[in-house]
Amino acid sequence: MTALDIIIMAAGKGTRMKSRIPKVLQRLAGRPLLHHVLDQAASLQARRVVVVTGHGATEVEAACAGGSGAGGPFDLKFVRQEPQLGTGHAVQQAMPQLAGDGMVVVLSGDVPLTQAATLAALVDAAGGERLALLTVTLPDPTGYGRIVRAPGGTVQRIVEHKDASDAQRAIDEIYSGIMAVPARLLDGWLARLTNDNAQGEYYLTDVVAMAVADGVPVVAHRITDAQQVAGVNSPVQLAELERAHQLRQAVRLMEQGVRLMDPARFDLRDDTRGRRAELVCAQDVEIDVGCIFTGRVELGEGAQIGAHCHISNATIGAGAVIHPYTHIDGEKAGVQVGEGALVGPFARLRPGAQLGREVHIGNFVEVKNSILAAGAKANHLAYLGDATVGERVNYGAGSITANYDGANKHRTVLEADVHVGSNCVLVAPVTIGAGGTVGGGSTITKDTPAGALSVARGKQVSIANWKRPAKQAK
Ligand code: UD1
Ligand code: CA
Repeated sequence: MTALDIIIMAAGKGTRMKSRIPKVLQRLAGRPLLHHVLDQAASLQARRVVVVTGHGATEVEAACAGGSGAGGPFDLKFVRQEPQLGTGHAVQQAMPQLAGDGMVVVLSGDVPLTQAATLAALVDAAGGERLALLTVTLPDPTGYGRIVRAPGGTVQRIVEHKDASDAQRAIDEIYSGIMAVPARLLDGWLARLTNDNAQGEYYLTDVVAMAVADGVPVVAHRITDAQQVAGVNSPVQLAELERAHQLRQAVRLMEQGVRLMDPARFDLRDDTRGRRAELVCAQDVEIDVGCIFTGRVELGEGAQIGAHCHISNATIGAGAVIHPYTHIDGEKAGVQVGEGALVGPFARLRPGAQLGREVHIGNFVEVKNSILAAGAKANHLAYLGDATVGERVNYGAGSITANYDGANKHRTVLEADVHVGSNCVLVAPVTIGAGGTVGGGSTITKDTPAGALSVARGKQVSIANWKRPAKQAK
């Protein structure tokens, strides 16, 4: 098999994004557009990838450094194109980085949704010796390069919209911007490009007519799914492709048996640290509308996710129910929700929350870096931070662990079967002995013995016949 090298054009400014961020670093599903394209290169098992940068070059290069995000066994190189004199000029900058013995696939850094199978078919069509163009028919081809065919149907050339006659503009088959071509032939043709055209640019697309003149067969691999070759030029287009991508992911999950209440209201993205989007679902998982999953999330058999939950880097056990509007973010440490647990509505689980079997976490309860053993409950308005909570503990409404002394974090230990009343402050480090009870409103600063009732608050006083102040007459 002929070795495959890839050139990704990513020098353009993306003026219409109206953003300070270089266009190819705008995110789709939480992932820079360029990383989606690098994923395509990885799927082709490319030998080398050369990214042509220009606008925002330093940022673009940094975003790919250290293997961040984009992965592939390929060798990644950058070349700078300054100034940007057209797509042909861009590819000219990249050629010296390539061995010259392989096939070259030209991609654009702003075209994120091309499928691996499509690119593989394009490479097959080139067969190591032909020029293969990826084309698509569009209802409105305005702006694109048109595929000009001879009466018999063979491709003759590409004519850019701005250079096209009215008759040529009527052609609805367009060039996607993606081609596969033997490096050796491409090299020769690039040397002959001129910028004698309506835009004064070096057009890569001029190589098509050169191939025809040299007797090299040109094949068009025509697809019907325009989204696969759609580029991002504006926030509106970015949002359109985001929806297309999300729908694709949603359909894939439904095909595995996941029940999505509405595939149009489902989102799965890379997390903000660049951890890959991955939603792994066992059988009979149900996901209501408006949920956002980021990073790696695992949902156990029969797990139910209510409407509008945001779940990131977490493992949800079999049969667990996450009620609406719950926010779960495991960041690096992760969050684990045990089998049959009930969480939310309006709960917040932070990194290191580990809930055992059948734990209940109710509304407005925040849990961080805490282990809750089976059957523990914190049902209302509470905070558990840096706590170890035993089996069957009942943690009252409004109670908090005071885990931070302003400098250091300390642990709170609630042994099995402890009952903490409402509105308690447990000042860590502190241990509540097994089976103990803490009276409502207590501020507990010292360890308590097992089985004891501990109360630490002002004694109740009642003053008989108390007269409230009356309003004074003027
Ligand atoms: C190009 C094709 C056109 C095709 C269209 C598909 C040419 C001459 N025309 O149009 O036939 O229908 O793509 O979208 O190739 N870029 C650089 N350096 C440059 C110019 C562009 O890196 O000097 C990059 C851009 O950042 C972008 C890609 O190349 O990623 C395509 O450029 P763009 O201006 O969008 O394409 P057109 O030239 O309009
Ligand atoms: Ca252009």
